[in-house]
Amino acid sequence: MIYDFATGNTNPENFPADELAAAAADVIPKIVVELNRYPGKFGHLGLRKLMAQREFDREGVTLDPDQIILTHGSMQAITMVADALCQGDDPLIVMEEHCYPGSINAFRSMGIDMVGIPLDDKGMRVDLLGEALADLDRQGRKPRFIYTLATYQNPTGTVMPRERRLELIALARKYDCIVVEDNCYGDVHFEGEKPPALYALDDDPRHIYICSLSKVFAPGVRLGYLTAAPAMLEQILAKRHDAGPNTMAAAITEAYLKDRLWDHIETANEALKKKRDAMLATLAEHSGNLYSFSHPVGGLFIWLEMADDIDMDRLLVIAEERQVKFLAGGSFNVRGEKGPYLRLAFGFPPVEEIEAGVAKLAACIRDARRS
Ligand SMILES: Cc1ncc(COP(=O)(O)O)c(C=O)c1O
Repeated sequence: MIYDFATGNTNPENFPADELAAAAADVIPKIVVELNRYPGKFGHLGLRKLMAQREFDREGVTLDPDQIILTHGSMQAITMVADALCQGDDPLIVMEEHCYPGSINAFRSMGIDMVGIPLDDKGMRVDLLGEALADLDRQGRKPRFIYTLATYQNPTGTVMPRERRLELIALARKYDCIVVEDNCYGDVHFEGEKPPALYALDDDPRHIYICSLSKVFAPGVRLGYLTAAPAMLEQILAKRHDAGPNTMAAAITEAYLKDRLWDHIETANEALKKKRDAMLATLAEHSGNLYSFSHPVGGLFIWLEMADDIDMDRLLVIAEERQVKFLAGGSFNVRGEKGPYLRLAFGFPPVEEIEAGVAKLAACIRDARRS
């Protein structure tokens, strides 16, 4: 049996296959003309309107659907933004020290230098961000943007409180820096209050906001979006060369979600919360001073820090032999530094697999002790 906790997939158990098939049967005959044309740079208007509604419902901010562009997952939005803003000499981004590997790898492959800011239990340490920006300023280096996952940070699961968000915005303004907010997990929310998105706290026209349907619906539909003010949007759209996003996926997704977006999200989150709870309970049951772990109130991951006497290299070998999959800390570090961390994803496997697999992982960790 392979236990796979490596990837931030969603929950196949409550995927609405029949309803989606009915939505497809209903909508496809209505969009024959659209399907026979290239979509254009912005993509399906109906889904853009629905995403504007989603943002309004969550943030209370009115977005113009004409300032939203649909993308092939939010990852395409991230690469387009980096491509648009990181031309020329010495491209540099400031971001959380531990971050989503997809973004790190994309930035690295584009030759972008990444300055990592350490995190604590409230997300990016904004005091250290201030020091880093001052340092770079003294060196005459200007970051092209600050990239932040302020809500349900991947991999740490932290949520940046409102005060800290305001401090980040003030620093960005002081150093004349664009903020790129990646809110991929913003609606994968289990309990408690959630601070507003950065863009809802600030109307700086250079702010860029990226979101996705991967984590609240399904990553296989490859639908994400970004919004920015017109001048910024034009600069980003100049880097779009794919003839536009997938009309079929957007139209079917909109037809299904249109009248039940929040019901769908609520049902998905209830099931995910059970999986999170199962993982937390199993981790607690087997921890025995081997590791400590995060208690995220949203997102799809739990972040573990190993005790000092765990040999990480040995753990990776043992876990591979016993077929327990996860991502080790080095994948998330902007400098590729290994560190005593690992990330577990709980969205996809059933509860019984989570319980059995995490118990097996704990045994692997125990057997990787130096003492
Ligand atoms: C923080 C973050 N941003 C972006 C993505 C990309 O997601 P997608 O391209 O499926 O929208 C992910 C996927 O795991 C992520 O964790």
